[in-house]
Amino acid sequence: MKSYSLLAPAKINLDLEIIGDRPDGYHQLVMILQSISLCDRLDLSSRKDQEILLHCEHPKVPLDETNLAYRAAQLMQKKFPEYASQYGGINITIEKNIPIAAGLAGGSSNGAAVLVGMNHLWEIGLTQPELQNLAAQLGSDVPFCISGGTAIATGRGEELDPILDLDHLFVVLGKYESLAVSTPWAYQTYRQQFLHQYLADHQQIKERIAQTYSSPLVKGIMAKNGQTIGQYLHNDLEKVVLPEYPQVAKLKATMSQAGGLGTLMSGSGPTVFTLCATQTEAETIKEQIQAQITDPDLSLWVAQLSSTGIMID
Ligand code: C5P
Repeated sequence: MKSYSLLAPAKINLDLEIIGDRPDGYHQLVMILQSISLCDRLDLSSRKDQEILLHCEHPKVPLDETNLAYRAAQLMQKKFPEYASQYGGINITIEKNIPIAAGLAGGSSNGAAVLVGMNHLWEIGLTQPELQNLAAQLGSDVPFCISGGTAIATGRGEELDPILDLDHLFVVLGKYESLAVSTPWAYQTYRQQFLHQYLADHQQIKERIAQTYSSPLVKGIMAKNGQTIGQYLHNDLEKVVLPEYPQVAKLKATMSQAGGLGTLMSGSGPTVFTLCATQTEAETIKEQIQAQITDPDLSLWVAQLSSTGIMID
């Protein structure tokens, strides 16, 4: 029986700007998304029956329909019933290394891996754009997780424009294990507080996106200039998450003072990262933060920026 092992990388946001509302209830965004080397591993194999069975040793990972990996398998069964009856159900084993509810798209990346893996397992032959169309039905970050690298994302976050890869830089990531931020809460709270700044006019939205394309941050990426990138990191959701979670605000301040090129909260948080020019610098900063914040609830990782999305291992 065939089986596949896949690596599903986490992502960070180098930029997250909320521009306006959308008729579908989501937000109009412009973001710069970046894959990193911190990965989950997913093992997929066919079953004789039609069941989807999820296995994961991490106690906080749900094993039902609330898990995007499960929903991805359901979507493939629904879209390709003839392959489902030929190949049967699926066993999915997740080795969880990416912290959950962390703003690192761990769940989205697992969903993306199941789409890519089942496309191979069932020998359907879907192209990457076809997989990304399916991925958009699962969540806004899932299409990016398939292709990875460095990309400007617009719309809900599913319209992707890959830009120059940035795999020469490193990050130190910090997250309090017991903290989880709800993404819907973060966006709803932002809407309540900043609705007056939202753009509604189509032309204004286009101009706002164009501003990001010609921003110092994008120029820094195109020049592979870590210093410029670090200086212009930006995330609008910090405005609502940091005041609500003072522990995260303090972590950001401590990480920022420890050095590196720049510090930012990723996605809806609560993970905070510091961009670093070298692995040695990242390891030094990690040790410094470990010495300064002795709370055992704080986990720290060093990862490299990565140019790949889902990979077969
Ligand atoms: O698309 P996804 O399921 O990952 O989004 C999670 C939540 O984040 C949505 O339910 C919504 O509350 C919020 N969101 C948003 N606008 C986006 C993306 C996400 O409001 N563009």
